[in-house]
Amino acid sequence: MDYRRTYIRDILQTTPPAEVSAYGWVKTRRDSKGIHFVQISDGSCFTDLQVVIEDGVMPEETLKKITIGACARFDGTLVESPAAGQSVELKASGVQIYGEADPSEYPMQKKRASFEFLREHAHFRTRGNTFGAVFRMRDKLSWAIHKFFEERNFLYVHTPIITTSDCEGAGEMFGVTTLDMQNLPTQNGGVDYEKDFFGKPAFLTVSGQLGVEAFTLAFTNCYTFGPTFRAENSNTPRHLAEFWMIEPEMAFCDIEGNMNLAEEMLKYLIRFLLDECEDDLRFFNKWIEPAVIETLEHVAASEFARISYGEAIELLKKSGESFEFPVYWGADLQTEHERFLTEKELKKPVIIIDWPKEIKPFYMRVNDDDKTVRGMDVLVPRIGEIIGGSQREERLNVLTQRIKECDLDEKDYRWYLDLRKFGSAPHSGFGLGLERMMMYVTGMKNIRDVIPFYRVPGSAEF
Ligand code: 4AD
Ligand code: MG
Repeated sequence: MDYRRTYIRDILQTTPPAEVSAYGWVKTRRDSKGIHFVQISDGSCFTDLQVVIEDGVMPEETLKKITIGACARFDGTLVESPAAGQSVELKASGVQIYGEADPSEYPMQKKRASFEFLREHAHFRTRGNTFGAVFRMRDKLSWAIHKFFEERNFLYVHTPIITTSDCEGAGEMFGVTTLDMQNLPTQNGGVDYEKDFFGKPAFLTVSGQLGVEAFTLAFTNCYTFGPTFRAENSNTPRHLAEFWMIEPEMAFCDIEGNMNLAEEMLKYLIRFLLDECEDDLRFFNKWIEPAVIETLEHVAASEFARISYGEAIELLKKSGESFEFPVYWGADLQTEHERFLTEKELKKPVIIIDWPKEIKPFYMRVNDDDKTVRGMDVLVPRIGEIIGGSQREERLNVLTQRIKECDLDEKDYRWYLDLRKFGSAPHSGFGLGLERMMMYVTGMKNIRDVIPFYRVPGSAEF
């Protein structure tokens, strides 16, 4: 058996009649008089292959084992289908069953199981229509991201997952240790981290940004694309404890150029998916989010709005909406505010820049007013924030000051400060949350349904 495979996607494109073998998992089975209809999928495309088995082709005993979830190879002739619903079907002459799926135990029997139920069966949900479409799109999206940067000469860098500095300065990090929790070594009343694996406290990274910045000051334009981790206790449909982030960083680039790249990238990715994932998108459009295709077409063709944080606050104050969280200059925007701005007020993606420095991380470039920083958030309808980024503080004295103001330990950022001391350059970058993007392009409502095996507070199954 070879990995090279004629996928069902290819079989469906073959001109009948043709002898074929189709491998896959049974999705449905319907019996009528003297004839059995079996839909199989191998995950290669949205459409299933219909296999038609006439009585007598295989022993009754074998036929019994062809149930939902079973894995098999069907051999036979591809013929034009006389019935509506598919153009070709496989008239079976034989079968090889690889794995049975006892119908009295296989949990994926129900036609329309709830997403909650499917989350508890994340190892099987991929065999159904919705999650087949989700993960084919996730694959295409990831590939499109690399293609986008490759075409623009960005260097792809693998930043570490274990780190000793807190990039966002929010303290929401998972510790990484080999110390015995039941028997911690102590020193001066605290934990003696010198005895730990790295000789000091270490964490899972919340962002690859600081590492990408170092590379950018050697390779000009770079990006990293990997898993990031946040120990924030947010039980919402848009937060994960482990998620994937795409982080480009550009030297000799200011906030203007940063906004341009973000807008160009989102449009490129949307255009790519509209072209490459037609069938899957049609499914989302019909069953998950009406008009998702129309919205994406519209976004790919229109200009994003660009406003300052101050303008955003004014728009929110004038809105006449009653928000749960108060709106005033200095307050961070909540999802309800973000969604109002992008869905109701501007009705398209919006980039908000120039945020109060108190609510943004230490690395953002301080504006001349000394009150705001050159941060940028990109908000899109249905999701709210999809990108966060900034122009970076490239001036050594200002950065040192900001680290102090943010109560961070200068020692932990020595190498980062060095980058400003020797050959500093204006530079900018941002982070796009892969799963937020997935929610946006599929219309899926819960972020747990666009990542293979989700991790959230209280849950790390599979
Ligand atoms: O705005 P954030 O925190 O920015 C950074 O991490 C920067 N270091 C990025 C950079 O400038 N290189 O996060 C960036 C994006 C958010 O806009 C959101 O899309 C996503 O990451 N994100 C999350 N996605 C899922 N679950 C969470 N808990 C997320 N937190 C952030
Ligand atoms: Mg953010």
